[in-house]
Amino acid sequence: MSIFTKKCVTELHREAALTGNETLKRSLSGYNLVMIGIGGIIGAGIFVLTGHAAAAHAGPAVVISFILSAITCGLAGLCYSEMAAAVPVSGSAYTYSYATLGELMAWIIGWDLVLEYGVGAVTVAVGWSGYLNGFLEGFGLAIPATWASAPVNWVLDATTGAYHFVGTGAVINLPAMFVVAAVTAILTIGIEESARVNAAFVVLKVTIIVIFIAVGLGHVAHSNWVTVNNPAGLFIPPQMGVGQFGWDGIVRASGVVFFAYIGFDAVSTAAQESKNPQRDMPIGILGSLVICTVLYILVAYVLTGVVPYDQLNVAQPIAKGIDAMGLPWLAPFIKFGAILGLSSVILVLLLGQTRVFFAMSKDGLLPVNFGKIHPRFQTPARITLVTGMVVMVAAGLAPIGLVGELCSIGTLFAFALVCVGVMVLRKVNPQLHRPFRTPFIWVVGPAGTAACFYLMYSLPLDTWIRLGVWMAIGLVVYFLYGKRNAELVRNNKV
Ligand code: ALA
Repeated sequence: MSIFTKKCVTELHREAALTGNETLKRSLSGYNLVMIGIGGIIGAGIFVLTGHAAAAHAGPAVVISFILSAITCGLAGLCYSEMAAAVPVSGSAYTYSYATLGELMAWIIGWDLVLEYGVGAVTVAVGWSGYLNGFLEGFGLAIPATWASAPVNWVLDATTGAYHFVGTGAVINLPAMFVVAAVTAILTIGIEESARVNAAFVVLKVTIIVIFIAVGLGHVAHSNWVTVNNPAGLFIPPQMGVGQFGWDGIVRASGVVFFAYIGFDAVSTAAQESKNPQRDMPIGILGSLVICTVLYILVAYVLTGVVPYDQLNVAQPIAKGIDAMGLPWLAPFIKFGAILGLSSVILVLLLGQTRVFFAMSKDGLLPVNFGKIHPRFQTPARITLVTGMVVMVAAGLAPIGLVGELCSIGTLFAFALVCVGVMVLRKVNPQLHRPFRTPFIWVVGPAGTAACFYLMYSLPLDTWIRLGVWMAIGLVVYFLYGKRNAELVRNNKV
């Protein structure tokens, strides 16, 4: 058997048809899936990164950056929708690659998805801790930094141009660990419970965003576009240096705010728990993406319209926007909404991670026992607990600078491979029943792939090196363990 061994789509359909309490429970509706998508999308990206992207790279034109990122995600989302409806099993991009590009590619993508879901959950948990402390500070109850931040930081040395670790004097990030533990418990108990908690958080976070937009639109003044470097108050401030304003800055900012869209594809990891995946997968993936895109564009327009963009490089830009509107009483609600909003992102990303591991363990690329379904909860409880524990420890120790961009580059790589995979499957299996067909696939597929690589290209070299190191470790694990074990499983020897 070779590294090109593919999983046959008929076999995947057999898996999808399994029922009983030894498999995942099919209970999610289209509504649940849209909520899972929004739950995964709206988080640290909009609540934290928008300010930095506007201040450092794009100014008010960060609105265009959001549109550019949305186009990239939309192209990938169309491809994901075709795959998720045609191959409705757990595992998402990992499973699609197994069916189209072979075992080694599947492993690579499964390993890469850890960067999106696992590392993404770590990143957002660290952001959650920051927001919680900001909220508590308002009541004079802040947790001391010693117990609420990572013991090391990952910083760029301006003289050598290299990154390195610097001690912070802190011990551990306890709030970040706490939120991961709480979310893990919910995910272990059941998919319906998880979907309910997620939906409640989503309603709250969308409400505060809508309030921010509705109140803010009345306060937008284009005079706020005028800054020292933009005396004419242009919507696209004149370019200053590489990646600073002008078109170059817009593209750079679009690489930054791409993080804000990560999570819509987690909908596809829940395909095996959806009641009617053929119909509802595209609704969940594309519906959540469209809703969040509209909200993001409006938030970016309001934010840069109420605060001059050169003042937005702060940890809580949305709260700053509220202050600028003269409504400080609203700020604690916004912060509270952000905390709940970030919790649902962690929940959805961890859900995605456990479902990818579940699919990998069924194929033997991870230990088979790891993927056992809990007979009562009907969740992959072991995987959920082990994944939750690893993410929890990482959240307690990891500096945010090390993990954020790694998550974006990993996700873009996965998106690119899904765009390629959908074209390959069109060629090798044209007869396959496709409840949703990506329109203009020979335009959308190549354009999606190119857009993802273009955004990857805009990320710093250091992030590429980290991606390379992670992938190299993955290949060692595959050749030492995964390949052999998968073969034993295929031959029914395990
Ligand atoms: N899109 C998610 C966020 O912005 C990952 O937090």
